Amino acid sequence: MKASENKAKLSFTNGSPDVELPIYHGTMGPDVIDIRKLYGQTGMFTYDPGFLSTASCESAITYIDGDKGELLYRGYPIEQLAQKCDYLDTCFLLLYGELPDAQQRDKFHKLVNSHTMVNEQMQFFLRGFRRDAHPMAVLTGLVGGMSAFYHESTDIHNPRHRDVAAIQLIAKMPTLVAMAYKYGVGEPYVYPNNALSYSGNFLRMMFGTPCEEYKVNPVLEKALDRIFILHADHEQNASTSTVRLCGSSGTNPFAAIAAGVACLWGPSHGGANEACLNMLEEIQAMGGIAKVGEFMEKVKDKNSGVKLMGFGHRVYKNYDPRAKLMQETCNEVLQELGLEKDPLFALAKALEKIALEDDYFVQRKLYPNVDFYSGIVQRAIGIPVKLFTGLFALARTVGWIAQLNEMIGDPEYKIGRPRQLFVGPARRNIP
Ligand code: ACO
Repeated sequence: MKASENKAKLSFTNGSPDVELPIYHGTMGPDVIDIRKLYGQTGMFTYDPGFLSTASCESAITYIDGDKGELLYRGYPIEQLAQKCDYLDTCFLLLYGELPDAQQRDKFHKLVNSHTMVNEQMQFFLRGFRRDAHPMAVLTGLVGGMSAFYHESTDIHNPRHRDVAAIQLIAKMPTLVAMAYKYGVGEPYVYPNNALSYSGNFLRMMFGTPCEEYKVNPVLEKALDRIFILHADHEQNASTSTVRLCGSSGTNPFAAIAAGVACLWGPSHGGANEACLNMLEEIQAMGGIAKVGEFMEKVKDKNSGVKLMGFGHRVYKNYDPRAKLMQETCNEVLQELGLEKDPLFALAKALEKIALEDDYFVQRKLYPNVDFYSGIVQRAIGIPVKLFTGLFALARTVGWIAQLNEMIGDPEYKIGRPRQLFVGPARRNIP
């Protein structure tokens, strides 16, 4: 963080003295005004619900230019990472700051691959859930429960513990997601096969059974790997900020990541791909493409409470770069599976076309986000809709850990403690 020569001056109409505030430059993106001393100097807080104008930390991991529609992990454009790297290379990059060389790559892949099994006792923990529980409810519990199983990696202030927890979480998330799925459908868990790739192994744990050999389809394996890369990090979004805030109290990494899983579940965040597919199915049931116009009228009517799921983004006010890549993958997967004429995909295309041309969406800069296509790809692969957010959580785990570790290593790190504007009753007495 570099201090600028430029300073901000805050003046008041009631004659209180001006306050000079330092300004800092980052490498890219908006400068920030440092208001840390504001309360001490003025007795006032700033007010910013939803953090619309507040940088909560300094970070060197992910950069988004929402107007350009650009996403960089450690400086590398998402398009290049999606084309030239795999998910584990991306994990290495997010965690350690650089892409691995051949030796580091081999070592990291082996390290992750050799930690895929979970403590056998976790199966009994899982059995405590109802079979019809939402997989995100199960996953929140399982990830939080990891701190009860892996005691050697629960001290967030110990760098070695943080490193071990990172590998354990990245390696075991696919196993936990697949276990949550198999439990729900009443099939036996399939143990990981460490000879397979990260996404190939996940496909086998999801769709394999102990009674026959499972052959990984390379097109689906690549598609899944791309979904994981595209969802690996996204700077200070709601779940990442949740992980940071939770971890800022010094709690263990598993508990902090479980908080992230819980936050991601919401339909305005990671739950959007599930909500998007439910929306497409609803329109399909209403009569399909013929009803798109009618549905769009509801979306534009403020009183209806209906939103076009998979559209709009707090940061991107241009096409989400991940959505473009996902659209490409979507075409490859549908072609591979002979589903090009899939009615939901045709419906999604019709919605996209109308929305991109309609004044309501154009004026508000509402473009498709990554969830718009990722739901269709996952559905084509055979992932049940309820598990979509679970896959997102699996992929985002590395981003959460990288951000958590960055925060703990930051000398300016403090427990997160927002303030408030109190509007409740003033002090009163019980008669
Ligand atoms: N459909 C219809 N109208 C929308 C949509 C949408 N999907 N998104 C935003 N708008 C409208 C709002 O009603 C508002 O209109 P107004 O100015 O007339 O009041 C305007 O566009 C601005 O929207 P905000 O809600 O202020 O934008 P914000 O940045 O707060 O919200 C959000 C972003 C939550 C993602 C929103 O666009 C949304 O709910 N989208 C649908 C859910 C979704 O796809 N979420 C996934 C996000 S990406 C992710 O988590 C991976």
